[in-house]
Amino acid sequence: MPLKGQAIGFIGGGVMAEALIEGIIKSELVPAEKIYVSDPDMERLSILQEKNKVNTTENNVQLVQTADILVIAVKPQVLPEVLAEIKPYINRKHWIITFAAGIPTRYIENKLGNVPVVRVMTNTACLVSEGASAVACGSYAGKEHESMCAAIFNSVGKVVTVKEELLDAVTGLSGSGPAYMYVIMEAMIDAGVRVGLPRKIATELTVQTMLGAARMALETGKHPGRLKDMVTTPGGTTAAGMYELEDGGLRVTLMNAVMAATEQSKHMSERLN
Ligand SMILES: NC(=O)c1ccc[n+]([C@@H]2O[C@H](COP(=O)([O-])OP(=O)(O)OC[C@H]3O[C@@H](n4cnc5c(N)ncnc54)[C@H](OP(=O)(O)O)[C@@H]3O)[C@@H](O)[C@H]2O)c1
Repeated sequence: MPLKGQAIGFIGGGVMAEALIEGIIKSELVPAEKIYVSDPDMERLSILQEKNKVNTTENNVQLVQTADILVIAVKPQVLPEVLAEIKPYINRKHWIITFAAGIPTRYIENKLGNVPVVRVMTNTACLVSEGASAVACGSYAGKEHESMCAAIFNSVGKVVTVKEELLDAVTGLSGSGPAYMYVIMEAMIDAGVRVGLPRKIATELTVQTMLGAARMALETGKHPGRLKDMVTTPGGTTAAGMYELEDGGLRVTLMNAVMAATEQSKHMSERLN
């Protein structure tokens, strides 16, 4: 158990907290009796309690007094009020995990007073244990905090470690990436319908094609360009399709989307400085 002896407290018991709790318990990182959740919604708490056998409270302060790792799992707009509420109760045993988009570790350090903070940029696929997460340490967090945080996010997908200044790029790529993939998927499905396939069949084939392509890239370790070349016969059907993708500027459009999302993330973080 890499998190042996640590009590984890989730401030906010929403969808992300639930996905992480399930991952942590499934991976046996800590037992359910060492997991605490606070949320204003009693009904939500009783669902989490019943499903996962975790400890619940409506009182954030009570949670802070019990837990060592504080996972801030509220929406970014609620964060300032939560930090102000818990600040008087933060002591040397605590360290923080935050995955609120666009909130730098420095902001939390300034509000809570030099506490170790590990910031994560994750994505929605955590909900199906296929998340892509990047972790970055603040000024007071060490390797031990980084590896415990990585273990938590590893329980719901893949994790990389980066310097915090790269988290805007991660946001633009894998944070926003699922939405780009959904648009590509939707366009492929519509195209399937355009060439005569029933929508249900077009959907099934498209989604499986995307999943299969991702698994081929992951499991063979081959460069995507090489995988593409392997299925592109000279003068064949895929070559005809590829020409249209290039002519339509798909590559540069995707690059522009990642760059625009990265810039937007930087812009949002700067507002808090
Ligand atoms: N969902 C994703 O796919 C995803 C992906 C990457 C990052 N994130 C980040 O993850 C964080 C959480 O997102 P989420 O999707 O899990 O949001 P969510 O489902 O709305 O969960 C937030 C929870 O916090 C509760 N809450 C509100 N005020 C609170 C307070 N003062 N003290 C304690 N709890 C409070 C909310 O209760 P009420 O509903 O009653 O207000 C809600 O249950 C956000 O920073 C988001 O940017 C989410």
